[in-house]
Parts: sequence; C-alpha cells; structure tokens
Amino acid sequence: MDKFIIDGGEKLYGKIALQSAKNTVLPLLAASVLTDEQVRIRNVPTINDVENMLHILSEVGCVIRRNKEYVVIDSSNAVSHEIPARLTRELRSSVFMLGSVLTRFQRAKISYPGGCDIGLRPIDLHLSSLKRLGVKIIEKDGYIECQAEKLQGAEILLDFPSVGATENIILAAVKAEGCTIIRNAAKEPEIIDLQNFLNAMGARIRGAGGGTIVIEGVKRLRGIDYTPIGDRIEAGTYLIAAATCGGEIQTIGVPPENIAALLHKLRENGCKIHTKNDKIELSSDGRLKSVNIVETMPFPGFPTDMQAQYGALCATARGTTLIVENLFETRYRYAAELKRMGADVIVRDRTAIIRGVERLHGACVTASDLRGGAALVIAALKAEGQSAVMDLSHVDRGYADFEGKLKKLGAKIKRVRI
Ligand code: UD1
Repeated sequence: MDKFIIDGGEKLYGKIALQSAKNTVLPLLAASVLTDEQVRIRNVPTINDVENMLHILSEVGCVIRRNKEYVVIDSSNAVSHEIPARLTRELRSSVFMLGSVLTRFQRAKISYPGGCDIGLRPIDLHLSSLKRLGVKIIEKDGYIECQAEKLQGAEILLDFPSVGATENIILAAVKAEGCTIIRNAAKEPEIIDLQNFLNAMGARIRGAGGGTIVIEGVKRLRGIDYTPIGDRIEAGTYLIAAATCGGEIQTIGVPPENIAALLHKLRENGCKIHTKNDKIELSSDGRLKSVNIVETMPFPGFPTDMQAQYGALCATARGTTLIVENLFETRYRYAAELKRMGADVIVRDRTAIIRGVERLHGACVTASDLRGGAALVIAALKAEGQSAVMDLSHVDRGYADFEGKLKKLGAKIKRVRI
C-alpha cells in the first residue's frame, strides 16, 4: 500500500489538463457491449476504477486494446452474461453492466456491487426500474440474476434522482421495444454525455440534463469514436487545493456551468475566479473566509463528491462552516483524520461543524475513501511541516497521476511504496 509524503506550505501555480470524467467513462465502458462494432473512447484516465471495469469487460469476452490516447473495446465475441464477484466487489459501477448485459444477452448475473464505503448505497431503484422494463429478478446468495426475453419500454418515476439508476435504465431501454420515459431523472452532466455517446451510436434519446428523459428503443447501435467530457470532480479538487493553499491555477477541460455550485462557494470564500469556455482560472491568497452553510444535493446542487475536499478548505478558513451531507450516510471519515492535523471539527450524523483554525500541522493520516483521501491530501498541502497520507488505493481509484499533477503546480509531494 503506497503512501504520500507531503511537505506542506507551498502555494500552487500552473495549468491542469483534466482527465475524462471517471463517472462518464465507467457507464460508457459498460455501454460498449451494446454494439458488436468497435467502440473507441479517448482520454481515458489511468485509474483503478477504469482498470476494474476493463477487467469486467474482458471477463464478458470483450477484446480490449489500449494506448496512451484511447481504449478500443471490441465486444463482437462477447459470450458471458456473468460478472464475477471478485470484480464487482471492487467497483460499484459494475452495476451498470446489468442494464447493458441484459440488453445484449437478455440475461445478466452479478453479485452485489462494492465501491467506496460511504454509506448503505442500496440498488433498489435500479432493480425496481429494471422490473418495470419487464426484467425478472431473483436475488439469492449475494447474487442478482436478471432475465428478460424481451425488454419493453415503460414509464418510470424515480423516488430519488439517482445517477446510477438513471444510467442503468437508459442502458436497458436503449434497444427495448417502444418508448421509455424516466421522470425525476438525475440531471448530472455525465448523463448528458451518456445520451450524446449513445445517440452518436444511433440511439434515440432526448431530455438528458432535465428531469424527464425519453428513450425510443432502436434495433441496432453502431461503433463509435468518442471523447468524453472532462472530470468536474477532478477540476474541483485542484481548484479547492489552490484556494486552500493560495496561488493561481487554471483548469482546462470542464465548463464552469458543470461546477457552478462549487465556484459560487469559492467566490464567497474570497477567491477570484475567471472563466472562459472550458477554462477556469482561480487565484487565492490562501486566507479564506468561511461561508455559513454548504449542503450536498443532486446536480446542479453542491456535489457530494466535493464535500470532503471542501471540508478540508473550511478547516483553515476564518469562521465556522456548517456542512450537511444529504446523499451518503458515512461520508465524514476524513474528519477524524483532519483533527489529527489540528482541525476543529464536530460531526453529528449528517452534519459537520468546522471552525476554522489559524493553522494545521503535519500528521500521519489514513484515507478511507476516494474523496476523503483527496481531502487529506489538500489538508496536508496546507499544513505546516510534513504529513504522511496512508493507503492510496482509494485515491488511485479516481485520480490519474495525482502527485505528478500536484508537483507540476509546485507541491512538495512524493509517493512512497511500502
Ligand atoms: C454516482 C457517482 C458518485 C456520486 C453519486 C452522487 C458514478 C459512477 N458515481 O453514484 O460518484 O457520489 O452519483 O452524485 O457516477 N439510492 C437509493 N437506491 C438506489 C440508488 C441510489 O436509495 O437504487 C440513493 C443512494 O443511497 C444515495 C442517493 O440515492 O443516497 C444518490 O445515489 P446515486 O445518485 O445513485 O449515486 P451513484 O450512482 O451510486
């Protein structure tokens, strides 16, 4: 298990070219089995979640070719409708395979998916929606077995605008007979990208980005060469790092409207932000003031995936911030680690009260989930003295070359193999 050694106190300067969004690439990879022609996806990040998804595709029988610029998936000889448990345990997004494998083979077998341990993360909405499309589901011995002689379009009202459930319905409905309407659909930019990708393959989907998505089933989908959108959470992580430490950075590859809620808060914190097309420039003197309250919400609200990194920022902002985590139950594990660095944080259920302190000090801290790990890195970059951030398996799930990109910005960070 690798660790980062970080000498804090440096300001960050420079430009960051962003990776393709992890949360787009994963459903697109799942979607690649919907055609037996070749699918080429560009700018795919080298992160563990992607590697795991590629393993799953290989297990299904896809042939994968990969170089620095793109990944090619050829599923013309795909044979298996079963996803082995050892792979689904590593990756929650393996659940998307249900929709796409069902479309391809009329059946799918998968064990309950894993991923970050940030709460219960049920998949009841995925399963009840698939049932609406005519899928028979048997749950036994930790496995979910799905069968549908024919996927049939239906109207589905989601109790909650779940990102994964919305994507899974799209993948199961894209070649179903007739029309599917998803109401109270998730509005995240990644859903729009999935729609664009599938439509370029010949699908007929409209409405993504709004609350109602209409999918008219088509008979066949063709191959594609596609560049996914940039990673807004990666962009937000570097922007929060520069806001916290001070400095001036520019991210390239994410339009500001995709992280408007974060940019709004960072401006309130006292950062100067200029945007043009897909470029975001932020400058900060590293002495921020706190905002009163931040609540995580589905898009376009403040993203849960930036809550932890923003919590690290609040740790040294002047004043008190109240954070409310509305999406996942246990997304404050990083708070106890921040305390080791001198932060003043109280967590009660879904609320964290963070009173900004003058300075953090270096400490040995352990990451316990992906974004919580990024938060600890940000805190260590700000802290006086040296820190060790242990267990990088979590940050390696979502950030390609995290330390390389931070080093280019002037951070003193190195990876040590244990
Ligand atoms: C996706 C993102 C993840 C992000 C999350 C919320 C991917 C690969 N992951 O995860 O990074 O943190 O959106 O923006 O895109 N829920 C249910 N039943 C279900 C499904 C979800 O109750 O069947 C609940 C969850 O417990 C949670 C909320 O709905 O409270 C949101 O979850 P969802 O939007 O589904 O998140 P994911 O798709 O898992």
